[in-house]
Amino acid sequence: MSELPNTMQAALLTHDGFAQEATGLAIDDAADWLEDAEIPVPQPDAGQVLIRMRASSVNPSDLHFIKGEYGQPRIKGSPAGFEGCGDVVATGAGAEHLAGQRVAFVAAGSGAWAEYALTPAMMCIPLRPDISDFDGAAQIVNPLTAMAMVDIAKQAGDAFIISAATSQLGKLMCALGRDLGLSPIALVRRADAVEFLKEIGAAEVLVTGEADFADRLTDVIKTLKPRVFLDAVADQQCETVFTAMPNGARWIIYGKLSTEPPALTQTGQFIFMSKQIEGFWLSKWMSSTPPEDQMRVVGEVQARFADGRWSTDVAATIPLRDLVGTLAETLKTTKGKIMIVSE
Ligand SMILES: NC(=O)c1ccc[n+]([C@@H]2O[C@H](COP(=O)([O-])OP(=O)(O)OC[C@H]3O[C@@H](n4cnc5c(N)ncnc54)[C@H](OP(=O)(O)O)[C@@H]3O)[C@@H](O)[C@H]2O)c1
Repeated sequence: MSELPNTMQAALLTHDGFAQEATGLAIDDAADWLEDAEIPVPQPDAGQVLIRMRASSVNPSDLHFIKGEYGQPRIKGSPAGFEGCGDVVATGAGAEHLAGQRVAFVAAGSGAWAEYALTPAMMCIPLRPDISDFDGAAQIVNPLTAMAMVDIAKQAGDAFIISAATSQLGKLMCALGRDLGLSPIALVRRADAVEFLKEIGAAEVLVTGEADFADRLTDVIKTLKPRVFLDAVADQQCETVFTAMPNGARWIIYGKLSTEPPALTQTGQFIFMSKQIEGFWLSKWMSSTPPEDQMRVVGEVQARFADGRWSTDVAATIPLRDLVGTLAETLKTTKGKIMIVSE
């Protein structure tokens, strides 16, 4: 393998631990949470690989994390960034089988918003040549979550509701749901997304801010009888959606895009209608799903990206060197996934 530099550029966390309060995805200035720095290139320990980055995603989980409101504590001075795609350029003992491979990975050693990232070999997926670098950099977090959650919905009936359906994950779930013969019911806040979501797989698309939303929701629930609500927003309107659903409905909260948590208005439904509220976190799914089942899902994910049934809608790219200075503005002006690139 080629000689490695001693130092690398990285966007480092400037805070430790967790924040006192959660303020959601909004970022006025990324310099409140990150700083540009030149740091030593990390060395892989046993079982780890060092990856030269091609592209890394900006996911909502990254934004929650840098602000201290995600499910694991920050470590000040370490590079941010959970997910990316790159080439394995050094390996620790036991990880030699990945040497030289282009991989999709989740960083669990040193973050992906850097020129080089470190992670255990078991967090890497070697990529087929027909997968693009951008699809590779968004190959794990959202696609595996989509596969796992639509599988939950499929067990419960023929229709399911998705909030924030314009998100990358929402789009993956609409397409997958349709391909499995299910009826995804998409909730969006932008009317301009309705036709597009129907084209990619939504059976119904309801715009949450429109005056007839409640009436249309009632009609759609009566007709399609969805029993699972896959919810990334979790606000008061979502509670209204859940209370309108039939007996046995499950409200599965997997994101917290709203900063205003809901109040429960119909507690009797838990007693008399067997309704449930629960959470979904991919990290838990990965630690509780047998490796052979995960590999089957990973294979299906790559096949879907390779043949075009799924794709990553990249709305903007940011060179790593400009990340801290331009991230906040790019988030404000962009609808779709942002990718960080080295050049
Ligand atoms: N639990 C897990 O394991 C897991 C795994 C993966 C992802 N997630 C969650 O899944 C969600 C989507 O992730 P992604 O990467 O697909 O997102 P993304 O492509 O970056 O899109 C973000 C979406 O959020 C919508 N949004 C933001 N604030 C909102 C609000 N207050 N109300 C309604 N919609 C709002 C935006 O809608 P507009 O188009 O209207 O602007 C946009 O569609 C996030 O909450 C993320 O944390 C959870």
